[in-house]
Amino acid sequence: MLISSVDKCRLPQHVAIIMDGNGRWAKKLGNQRLFGHRKGVNSVNAAVEISTELGIKHLTLYAFSTENWSRPKDEVDGLMSLLVSTIQDQTPKLNKNNIRLNAIGDLDSLPAAVNKKLMNAIEKTSQNTGLVLTLALSYSARWEIINAVKEICKEVQQGKLDVEAINEQSFPLYLTTREMPDPELIIRTSGEQRISNFLLWQCAYSEFYFSPVLWPDFTKEEFIKAIVDYQGRERRFGKTSDQVKV
Ligand code: FPP
Repeated sequence: MLISSVDKCRLPQHVAIIMDGNGRWAKKLGNQRLFGHRKGVNSVNAAVEISTELGIKHLTLYAFSTENWSRPKDEVDGLMSLLVSTIQDQTPKLNKNNIRLNAIGDLDSLPAAVNKKLMNAIEKTSQNTGLVLTLALSYSARWEIINAVKEICKEVQQGKLDVEAINEQSFPLYLTTREMPDPELIIRTSGEQRISNFLLWQCAYSEFYFSPVLWPDFTKEEFIKAIVDYQGRERRFGKTSDQVKV
């Protein structure tokens, strides 16, 4: 499917991806799981490039969940080194393409070297005005929601916030995604059809696209397919079809 199949006037502003299937991809070829994660970086680059080419404003990638810490130590260490080397290699390209790097999650729980490299890249790209690339790292939506609730409770206790002022507009200002719109489209690869603790508040009205393709095989063309599929849907937000057509 070609880029010309995409209606540039009806692009989602925010696409979020659950990159899944690296391990299975590697095992299928008789390799270690880490081999799949390394290959997955090519698909990360492809998704970033096509998002920039299309003019999508926000791309959020679920790169490491809170639950991923309980994987075997070798795999966690390998993923952390891969993050450091990828961030290091890609930062000049992010700047060249006007992309701003951002991260959400419990970033303090990352190894110091990863945290430092990440903060450095975020700072170096902070003036860029094109695509905002957000990496969800040591992220889980339940962690995020609990954090927001704690923050709100503190402000109420300190008399800075009135309980009556807590509503659907003010609550998300306490989430890590406060500076971005909710994702209109969430893609999950590898045939799994779950949300896995990702953006639970923010996905209230997201469209879901489940691709059978394993993440290392998720090319620009697969990304375009997801966008075209999304563009063929009617988003009703609880209204009737006739109401949204008006
Ligand atoms: C899920 O596949 C993938 C991950 C847990 C890690 C994703 C990381 C990358 C693509 C590489 C680094 C990323 C960046 C942003 C530089 P899985 O291991 O759960 O696969 P499986 O379900 O087949 O076991």
